Amino acid sequence: MRKYHTRVTGSIHTAAKAIQHGEIVAFPTETVYGLGANAFDKRAVKKIFEAKGRPADNPLIVHIYSTSQLPEIVQNVPPVAHQLITHFWPGPLSIVFKRNKKIPDMVTGGLPTVCVRMPNHYLAKKFLKKTGVPIAAPSANLSGKPSPTTWKHVWNDLNGKIPLILKGTAALHGIESTVVDCTAKTPRLLRPGVITLEQLQKIAGKINTHSTKHTASPGMQHQHYAPQGKVILINDPTDIRLKQNNKAYIGITPSTQKIFQLNPANVNQYARQLFSFFRTCDSQNISFIYAQKVSEIKLGRALMDRLRRATRDNVTE
Ligand code: TXA
Ligand code: MG
Repeated sequence: MRKYHTRVTGSIHTAAKAIQHGEIVAFPTETVYGLGANAFDKRAVKKIFEAKGRPADNPLIVHIYSTSQLPEIVQNVPPVAHQLITHFWPGPLSIVFKRNKKIPDMVTGGLPTVCVRMPNHYLAKKFLKKTGVPIAAPSANLSGKPSPTTWKHVWNDLNGKIPLILKGTAALHGIESTVVDCTAKTPRLLRPGVITLEQLQKIAGKINTHSTKHTASPGMQHQHYAPQGKVILINDPTDIRLKQNNKAYIGITPSTQKIFQLNPANVNQYARQLFSFFRTCDSQNISFIYAQKVSEIKLGRALMDRLRRATRDNVTE
């Protein structure tokens, strides 16, 4: 494993130079922080997998700043993808296309497809433009940990493992982009995210939804988002067991118990704060993390997806 002296910078110029020299750089986006490399440079992309400890079969998202970059990444842009791009780019929507052979296997996990996203974040946009190349980037956490929503989370996971962090503010959305596969006639939702199913349906009509048995998105099978403590999903804070020590709670309805708790005002704030809350619980060695369920509509679908994954065994109580 390579050892680095990790620097934190606010300079787009420094960050872009590092990419051009074949290095990896963590950078902010509106969803979560990413860990990027030149998507055309196999050796640079390999460093991402090494730093994160990420399984090689889990493909990366390729980040762009302009649709003029698409032809060297994808074979074609189907009409439905074109509509989605018009409505949601730049923004938190990642689209799976048939891949152009120029994109190395290392990026796609050997799949014949490639996932592309155009972030809507002022630093990310400037950074992507300055590098001049498509940037392959997963979330900038150690594999298996919750995605980082601040540069400090990135630092805590990857200090000594990457050369540079481009420092921005805390992520606006706090959960990852929506992934939609546009290679079949009817688009398929592979990962619920910030752009909701309802929003997609309004533009594209019918959307097939992700089933846990579907294997088109290899990353979805790996353990994600789980803190060290046991996550227990509940309908109401009165379901928190009184006798357990060392517990915490996140939910819109406040608990009357005297415990470490976070009460987001609404589903958007819940999503924004969830991963950061998990990391705080880990740093305090919390054993039981109670989380209030939300309705599975709009952003609630993505939030419940992340909460279920965090339970490790996908069992709710
Ligand atoms: O918001 C986000 O999407 C963040 C920021 C940094 O852009 N990125 C992110 O990347 O969450 P990552 O690697 O943690 O998740 C990428 C997801 C995985 O579930 C992966 O399996 C899926 O996208 N994916 C990537 N390429 C794919 C492909 N060709 N076919 C199907 N799924 C793909
Ligand atoms: Mg990730």
